[in-house]
Formats: sequence, C-alpha cells, structure tokens
Amino acid sequence: MHILSADQFTKKQLEELFTLTDSIKSQFLTDKNKLLKKHEGKVLITLFYEPSTRTRLSFATAAAHMGMSVISTENAREFSSAAKGETIEDTARVLEQYYPDAIVIRHHETGEVARAAAVTKVPIINAGDGKGEHPTQSLLDMYTIWDSHKKHSGLKVVLGGDLLHGRTARSLAKLLTCFDGNHIVFNTIPELQMADDIKEYLDGRGVTYEEEPDMKRAFQNADVVYWTRLQKERLPAGVHIDQTYKIDKKAMSYLPETAIVMHPLPRVDEILTEVDDDPRAKYFDQAGNGMFVRMALLDTILK
Ligand code: NCD
Repeated sequence: MHILSADQFTKKQLEELFTLTDSIKSQFLTDKNKLLKKHEGKVLITLFYEPSTRTRLSFATAAAHMGMSVISTENAREFSSAAKGETIEDTARVLEQYYPDAIVIRHHETGEVARAAAVTKVPIINAGDGKGEHPTQSLLDMYTIWDSHKKHSGLKVVLGGDLLHGRTARSLAKLLTCFDGNHIVFNTIPELQMADDIKEYLDGRGVTYEEEPDMKRAFQNADVVYWTRLQKERLPAGVHIDQTYKIDKKAMSYLPETAIVMHPLPRVDEILTEVDDDPRAKYFDQAGNGMFVRMALLDTILK
C-alpha cells in the first residue's frame, strides 16, 4: 500500500488509524521497550530531496521505537544520483533491490513521489511533493483536532497563510471532507488563496467553504485555526510577497476559549512567540503527535 494523497483515506480508515495511534501512544508511555519487538529487523529508507526536520526525524524515530533500522539520505537533490540526472523511477527500482520494507520520499516537484510509487511494490510514503500534498502531515493534523475536540465533524476550520503554495492545508482540506458538517474558511490575501482544484474537491464532497479576508470575522466562532508560513521557496521568480497575516495576542482575542491554533511548523514570523504560552496554541503538541501517528501508519502498512 502506497500513501500518496489524502484523498485515499476513508472515515473508517482514519478512525482506525487514530484508535491505533492512541493505543501505541499509551503503550509507549507505559513501557516503550515493548514496542521494540513490533517491527524488529525491518528497514525503512528515507529519501529526502528537500529540507525537513519534523517529517524525516519523526518517521526515523517512529521506526526506531518499533525496532526498525533506518537508512537515510537527507539531501538527495544534491547528494544522490539525481544530481547526475537519474530519474526517480530508476532510483526507486534500485532501492527495491535492497529489500526495504517501506520508503519515505519528499520531493520538490509535485507528482514525483507518485512516479516512484508507480514502478515499485515497496510501500512508498509521500512526505511532501512540491506544492502537491503532504498526506501524513494531514493525518497528524486530524489526530491533533481529535485530541482537543474529540470530534471531526461540525467544525469551523480556518485555514490561513500561504494556501496557494503550501501542501499541508491542501491535504488537510481533503481529509476534512471525510466527516459531516465541517465548514472551511480561507483567511488569506488574494495572492495566496487556495487553488481551484481543492475548492472543486470540496464542492464535489459537499463541504462548504468561504473566503474571508478579515481575520476578526474569520476567527469568530472558529474551532480550529490552521496557520502556515509563506512558502518563499515556491514563489515564481520575480514574485515578492511580504505581507501575510500574523497571529499575535490581539488576534487570539478574536478566538473562542475552546478554539485551537495549529501550524505544521516551521514557523517563521506568522505566529508571534507571545502566543506560545496560550493554552490554545497546539503546534508543539501537534509536532509530538506526528511521531505517534507515523508509528501507527507504519504499523498499519507493515502488517
Ligand atoms: C511543512 C512542509 O514541508 O510542507 N513542514 C512539515 O512537514 N511539517 C510545512 C512547511 O514547510 O511550511
């Protein structure tokens, strides 16, 4: 089973994955050594053509905590044979010869991870492809929503920041369609607005959405605010954008007490550090959840 897009998941699969995440998390916090036998002797390859802190290291630690070995290249764009002109298909065919149990790939071009998956039976996990998707991030995002709200339906979710070039909000919007009654508010500047393919996806699956450029109005009655950084590395040549919305203490005052603020990280300056102590700020917990969700995901794929 490859993990390439958020649209491959059903409500049932998500609920099973999050139940498994809860169980792995509690086993880990009780006696973490027990989990070491789970996938002893198995091998995970991580092949990253783009920078990463959380995704690569949480996959690696998730695997290590379940007894797996991890073979890693963190700068494949420069140091793998891609720099010599090798296609990702050939790279995948070669890695298959080493009998890994799964391969996690991040790539700077949309669709490249799917090209690798098309030529191998080894499970390929998309860890972010260009401005395409980041399905495992959206899994941990949904788990974090569950962690706080104990539900995935009937939520008002504000997506903000760089919705045009960021892949995490795209995948999250897709997963929100697996549950009933969610409403999405896109709160950003026109230059960074969510692309039409996602809006069409939402239309097709009956999820309502609106564009609300005013932060105060967008934040009113929100259950979740999901903020993202300007993806400077993905802006077309010659395009400069300085102005994005920032969440500061004042912006937090627009939000209900029960709301949560999430961010896939890394944060640059779009959420001020003065917000970090607010109990509604969940972005660091969210990153921690990433490891447990990835343990559950690997466990599901490897079984
Ligand atoms: C995100 C990504 O790589 O898309 N990072 C992550 O995996 N947590 C978000 C980003 O880089 O802005």
